[in-house]
Amino acid sequence: MSADQYAGELKQLAMHPDYIAYPLSWLGHIPFAAWLVTVVEPRQFVELGSYSGTSYFAFCQAIKNAALDTRCFAIDTWEGDEHTGSYSDAIFQAFTEYNETHFSEFSSCLRMRFDDALPKVGYCSVDLLHIDGLHTYEAVKNDYETWMPKMSERGVILFHDTVVDIDGFGVIRFWSEVCDLFPSYNFTHSNGLGVLLVGSLYQQDDALLKAIKSVALLGERLAERLWLQQIVSEKHGELEKLQAVTIPGMIAEKKQSDAARHYLEQAVIEQQLKLEVLETVTTPAMLAEKEQLDAALRRADAELASSNSELKKIKDSTVWKVLTKISSIKNAIF
Ligand SMILES: C[S@@+](CC[C@H](N)C(=O)[O-])C[C@H]1O[C@@H](n2cnc3c(N)ncnc32)[C@H](O)[C@@H]1O
Repeated sequence: MSADQYAGELKQLAMHPDYIAYPLSWLGHIPFAAWLVTVVEPRQFVELGSYSGTSYFAFCQAIKNAALDTRCFAIDTWEGDEHTGSYSDAIFQAFTEYNETHFSEFSSCLRMRFDDALPKVGYCSVDLLHIDGLHTYEAVKNDYETWMPKMSERGVILFHDTVVDIDGFGVIRFWSEVCDLFPSYNFTHSNGLGVLLVGSLYQQDDALLKAIKSVALLGERLAERLWLQQIVSEKHGELEKLQAVTIPGMIAEKKQSDAARHYLEQAVIEQQLKLEVLETVTTPAMLAEKEQLDAALRRADAELASSNSELKKIKDSTVWKVLTKISSIKNAIF
């Protein structure tokens, strides 16, 4: 392998996906998938179960980046299944729109059941098949068995969810049955991805398996990096949304409180002015009135004092004393 080729493969391994949609369980396999297409150079790639497109569009992006001459098919009813649950038609609309905009020259959507799409794909024509439909044991076995005749002499099959060990998920059991039939490698992160080298070529040539093993660890590290980038970008998005809601709200609130404060300050200034006007008008008038009242009071006090001295003079006179005596004699007789 030339140095340029090696550098190109590593660059693909570090590819950042342009399209990421929920669910994100496939996100961690994107570095390896992008590297794999560069190495396998598939003439035909088929995905069974594309849903919102995280895995499929990563394959398409890597194929476009590497300028490969690959024909791609995304097959799905886009109605959901017993594990994904049913979902809205908007998922399919978004999928076809993105596909048309970015990959229409080499990629097509087949909206139908996997079994019904079989006649549309030739025997021994698929170099890369990704099985990610319903995850029951029976469904994955059926997908494998019905699509196996489509695999070429350098065919590679990928199985998602090979380590999910919960009720109703049977890929883990099916993988244990097939992983020793062909050269294989199983990634255990992001729900597991089984890589089965079913093409006859790999019976004699172990170069691909060796290459897979040599990049596996780096692929896992890059998957972790991708996860962290995704978390950071989601948090960033949340922060932007929060700022878009709160900052205008806070500015509006501040404007309101500024207006209320301004109104109150104006009201205080007006009342102070009125008070000052009132004081300048009323205080001199009130002082004059008080002056008049004080003078009247002083006159009344003087008159009272002179009346009291008159009364005392009368009481001290001889006539007053004789009249008082006569009055007491009269009281004694009668
Ligand atoms: C696990 S999801 C695919 C996830 C996708 N690869 C990703 O990266 O997110 C499974 C999809 O397979 C589809 N599906 C399941 N069984 C199917 C069948 N027999 N024929 C067509 N589509 C099927 C469902 O509609 C669902 O969208």
